Amino acid sequence: MLKLIKVEEIPSTNAALKAMPEAEHGTVLLAKRQTAGRGRLGRSFASPQGGLYLSLLLCRKEPPQGLLHLTPMVAVAVRRAIFDACGLWTDIKWINDLQVQGKKVCGILTELDGMGRIIVGIGINCHTTAFPPELRDIAASLHEFTPVEEECLLQALLCRLEELDEALCSQKEAWMAEYAAACITLGKEVDLIRGDSRRRAFAEALDENGALCVRFPDGTKETVFMGEASIRLHRTKVALC
Ligand code: BTN
Repeated sequence: MLKLIKVEEIPSTNAALKAMPEAEHGTVLLAKRQTAGRGRLGRSFASPQGGLYLSLLLCRKEPPQGLLHLTPMVAVAVRRAIFDACGLWTDIKWINDLQVQGKKVCGILTELDGMGRIIVGIGINCHTTAFPPELRDIAASLHEFTPVEEECLLQALLCRLEELDEALCSQKEAWMAEYAAACITLGKEVDLIRGDSRRRAFAEALDENGALCVRFPDGTKETVFMGEASIRLHRTKVALC
């Protein structure tokens, strides 16, 4: 059973949950707005009114190295919840963005705290209209594609997150297969971006934990792990030779 705590505004639900050592497994902190929302790779996450911003605390006995598939499974859980509540299947852009028609509607940030606890942060653009200028071409809100009832989406999300907690180790294979089927990065040319370096590659496959296996034009291959690089998609679907 998840335990929901709601607040109006907070700097970051991930940061706040990390700073609650007494919080129990299954605690969910939900905010209507964040003033310092955090994204992957040290970026910020715009969190104005109109979105669902929440963090889930998981205190699991498995070591973190055994839970590398968690973030992809969270993407599957959120995607299922959006379908349950809104009847819309979103695409997954590796590793953890949910997109509709090429625009990001949800971001996921999984963090560890110093006590081995896992904080799963999820931000969904539901009725957001106030995107900063730099996001206007790449982000969108669910309401642009389908009617959204935020309370209904929240309830669906809580159900799917509870399901995820139970399935995390027992149903990994099936959930990862669903992830791969929805992952629009596979079979595409991508730019692999690490700091200032940008390399063209072909996204061939996912490993069992959701790491991305890419092939470079010279034939060399590499496995890219979550948190080490970001990906820009190219529209073509032609394999590099
Ligand atoms: C990303 O796309 O880079 C990840 C974004 C994650 C945003 C969510 S919103 C709720 C939680 N609190 C945060 O500060 N970040 C996550």
